[in-house]
Amino acid sequence: MRHLFFLGFSMLLVSCLDVNTDERSNGEQKISDMDIHSFAKPAEAVIKHLSLDLTADFENKKLSGTASYDISVSNDADSIYLDTRGLDIHSVTVNGVDTKYTLGENKEWLGQALAIPVEFNSKKLVINYSTRPEAEAVQWLNPSQTAGKKHPYLFTQGQAILTRTWIPIQDSPGIRLTYDAKITVPKELMAVMSATNPQAKTLDGVYKFKMEQPIPAYLIALAIGDIEFRSIGKRTGVYTESVMLDKAVYEFADMEKMVEVAESLYGPYQWERYDVIVLPPSFPFGGMENPRLTFATPTIIAGDRSLTALIAHELAHSWSGNLVTNATWNDFWLNEGFTVYFERRIMEALYDSTYSNMEASLGLQSLQSTVDDLEPEQTHLYLDLHGKNPDDGMNDIAYEKGAYFLTMLEKAVGRTTFDAFLRKYFDEHKFQSMTTEKFLVYLDENLIKPNNLNINVREWVYGPGLPANLPKPTNQRFNKVDTMVTSFISGTKASALDTKDWSTHEWLHFIRALPDSLPREQIVDLDQTFGWTKSNNSEIKAAWFLLAINQGYGHEILPAIREFLVNVGRRKFLTPIYTALIENGMTEEARSIFNEARSNYHSVSLNTIEALLDKALSNQ
Ligand code: BES
Ligand code: ZN
Repeated sequence: MRHLFFLGFSMLLVSCLDVNTDERSNGEQKISDMDIHSFAKPAEAVIKHLSLDLTADFENKKLSGTASYDISVSNDADSIYLDTRGLDIHSVTVNGVDTKYTLGENKEWLGQALAIPVEFNSKKLVINYSTRPEAEAVQWLNPSQTAGKKHPYLFTQGQAILTRTWIPIQDSPGIRLTYDAKITVPKELMAVMSATNPQAKTLDGVYKFKMEQPIPAYLIALAIGDIEFRSIGKRTGVYTESVMLDKAVYEFADMEKMVEVAESLYGPYQWERYDVIVLPPSFPFGGMENPRLTFATPTIIAGDRSLTALIAHELAHSWSGNLVTNATWNDFWLNEGFTVYFERRIMEALYDSTYSNMEASLGLQSLQSTVDDLEPEQTHLYLDLHGKNPDDGMNDIAYEKGAYFLTMLEKAVGRTTFDAFLRKYFDEHKFQSMTTEKFLVYLDENLIKPNNLNINVREWVYGPGLPANLPKPTNQRFNKVDTMVTSFISGTKASALDTKDWSTHEWLHFIRALPDSLPREQIVDLDQTFGWTKSNNSEIKAAWFLLAINQGYGHEILPAIREFLVNVGRRKFLTPIYTALIENGMTEEARSIFNEARSNYHSVSLNTIEALLDKALSNQ
């Protein structure tokens, strides 16, 4: 299956590093600039502004109401094309007149094109519609799935191509629009969006929002719940359920400083406020960079501020991703690689380089294992997602290989020059989309040529694996950890190891560096001494579960593993743990846990884990 997408379209292209596939053109638009994951034809007719008026019906798990659009139509266009998936469209008007529309063939993961006849003077489009309970972007939670247990909850996840499952929209990262919204919710609840937000509940359950900066559709987001707001700094704050509020405020105390540090690196923050909402544990990602309001998993609240690099990451997307946006999902590394690089620069400036070096080292370890696991063609920075669901085709490579590419460039020209380059890049392309080829031209003109560099850029971007000039991080703190690993292996009791002042990163490195086959007494000694099974730190806990399962110790701690997998929906934890269970003869246990957990998972995690278990079954 994995390789199927190489057959169709890409067979036509000569696959050779030096051939610039991006210069092949198809009429007006370059092939690489076209978004294969959207039915929109923006050159013909495009949405400029969206105005939502929706009511959330928790009983029937339905959002319904109208979406009104300001559109711009070119002279010779006869239709506007929107992306939709699983929506019930009730009526459509163009300039106030009822209009007959057509819904195209339903394509897996892409959904259906909604074609509406328009003319060059068509300005206003109104669609009356509702979502269905199974809309993939939306998770409707029962009270029991929240922290407070009293009220239901809803959140959406748009990236990569899920916004079309709750709004008819031109769902391509290369198309930007402004939006406003009126959302009506049950009176006990508050609604927040990736827009200007309320800081208190209203009496009537009606909330109004505005996003005045143009953004791509994947960044439109909504959350509804019994949530409260508390301020952290003058333009930062936290939303979450009241029982989580104190913990969240403590954890994110440095948020205002993070924004200042980020601005001092790469220029003014363009979105006014920066707030974070801590969601229920089923949120399928660590974080999502919805503009003005990062959506975050509660699993980063460790009680000691040790997992806040994730906030730095989502904040960094306010430049790399939200301001300068990957034009298509093939260019995903332009979002994530830049953001990981930027995140580490923020953490270094806020703490010190020993801290960010540990993150870079852990990143390199996971990059190395991703490269080992994937086929060489899947390890290019520039992706070929033709015939693929972007959610399956996007992997760690964009993050770490992307970040290391920028670190390599930084080392080649020095920090001052590189920072000036990046700052200018963000400034000159703000509120625009960026293709890989356009970036490479910009890089060549603004960094490579002026500094007379001789660098294998195309090998990094269009070639497999890890190029030889990948800069290796050196790390004193991890060297000490390695000494403790050696000492433990040679028989030292866990309690006699010097682990004083270890941060989460040192613990993660320690756990990952332990060999595959430790004697059982040593596994027991580790858990009894360090209490990992009961850890409050989700990263340490997840790493320990992996180690334990791979050492054949999974049965002993199965209740704790079950509890974690049933309650936490973060895919980054679920995927490796379920995989380890399957690979260690515990497929039955995995399936039973999944059956208990599935109603807690958002579709993004559900689909991935279900596919994993189905594959395990067919291999049996
Ligand atoms: N934008 C991503 C999340 C995402 C990627 C959603 C692709 C859908 C498709 C977000 O910024 C992210 O990278 N989150 C990471 C955090 C991180 C610190 C690397 C996560 O969720 O683990
Ligand atoms: Zn990211």
